[in-house]
Amino acid sequence: MQFFLYPVLIVLLLSGSTVFPADNQAASGRVTPLLPVEEQWEPNAVPDRIVLSWSDDPSTTMSVTWRTDDSVRQAIGEIAPAEGGPKFVSKKKTIGASSQSLETNLGLSLRHTVTFQGLEPQTEYLYRVGDGTNWSEWADFRTASSDAAPFSFVYFGDAQNDVKSHWSRVVRRAFRDAPKASFFLHAGDLINRSESDAEWGEWFYAAGFIHRSTPCVATPGNHEFGRIGNTDQRRLSIHWQPQFAFPQNGPDGLRETVYWFDFQGTRIVSLNSNYRIEEQVEWLDAVLTDNPNQWTVMTFHHPMYSASADRDNPHLRELWQPIIDKHHVDLVLQGHDHTYARSQLMTAEINLVTGVSHQDPNTGTVYVVSVSGPKMYKLGRRPFMRRAAEDTQLYQIIKIDGLQLTYEARTAVGELYDGFVLRKDEGTRRTLIEQMPGTRESRRPAGK
Ligand SMILES: [Fe+2]
Repeated sequence: MQFFLYPVLIVLLLSGSTVFPADNQAASGRVTPLLPVEEQWEPNAVPDRIVLSWSDDPSTTMSVTWRTDDSVRQAIGEIAPAEGGPKFVSKKKTIGASSQSLETNLGLSLRHTVTFQGLEPQTEYLYRVGDGTNWSEWADFRTASSDAAPFSFVYFGDAQNDVKSHWSRVVRRAFRDAPKASFFLHAGDLINRSESDAEWGEWFYAAGFIHRSTPCVATPGNHEFGRIGNTDQRRLSIHWQPQFAFPQNGPDGLRETVYWFDFQGTRIVSLNSNYRIEEQVEWLDAVLTDNPNQWTVMTFHHPMYSASADRDNPHLRELWQPIIDKHHVDLVLQGHDHTYARSQLMTAEINLVTGVSHQDPNTGTVYVVSVSGPKMYKLGRRPFMRRAAEDTQLYQIIKIDGLQLTYEARTAVGELYDGFVLRKDEGTRRTLIEQMPGTRESRRPAGK
């Protein structure tokens, strides 16, 4: 410290003042006004809300979407094979992006999408996005193998509420636990109010740079659907399609919510459980009929087997489960119930009241409901549940390697809460080996 600052410090100490007068303001009841949400989340010419997703083959393509204000006159992506030093820049290629304006409750912005194509499988790339003047940083991603190969991914149930305040730590802990996960999968209700630009801002803030290097796979929940005016009709959030680039291979009118892609020997299928569920039956049957992959994982928001009796979805089960059973889907990842519930292997014949099944226990599908955000509901214990939880934020790490799938559910502080191994035997037979820890189930005290 410079000697001439000492007298100033002594005067401050003697006078009881601090260099942070806000402390005194708070003590006196005067508080700093809340920064208006428009200012907290406003765009500028520098790209933000950057997120990777796949609209095409993960072994040869990658899509990037981002936001700017409407001062931007062009949108481009640059890409080069990754190298240890900075000279990769000399090998960059420039690709034009498509842009659209989006008028949200906080004002006008532009949303841009670039799809890098013709990439080499199993290769690291560096990319940046911008307008030629204002750029993102160079961020990395890795293309998938074009053949079956081991990989892991992370699955999240509803983030939905207090996303900045309470979900951030969950997605960040998941990233620390599984930094090489090939993608993060969100089973709907990413935010609470479908058209709230500020809530989408919180969702992008929470995962920050993770979105820029770990592709996002998401299915919409009921909170990504909003009412049209005062009617009972609902529509998908106006944010969804401009800010993600999911495959366009679903039925007409359901694209980017109903889709499939193959990742290293696993078919990933997203259905839209919010509406038009009858129209998805035939599509699903066709997608699962023509499926050469060893593994099939599905995601949709409303659970086939609910975590409480009064939230049951029998119509969904009647329509979709025969197709899921017919094609021996391995794992169904869901949300909506704000609790945790994981089943055994099961097919439609199981009796939901008694848990009694007269069928082979080595066939069927594992169903999971999970929650990653802070909103919590009460669990209704049902016989199909092998492991369940209340009042616990979780993320799930799923690894697929050859004929074995390893599943771990971890709490927001990283503790193992549930686990199993699923092994493929001959034909459609499989064996589920429980690996849940010996800790007690996380449940509310009775009467609460
Ligand atoms: Fe929901």
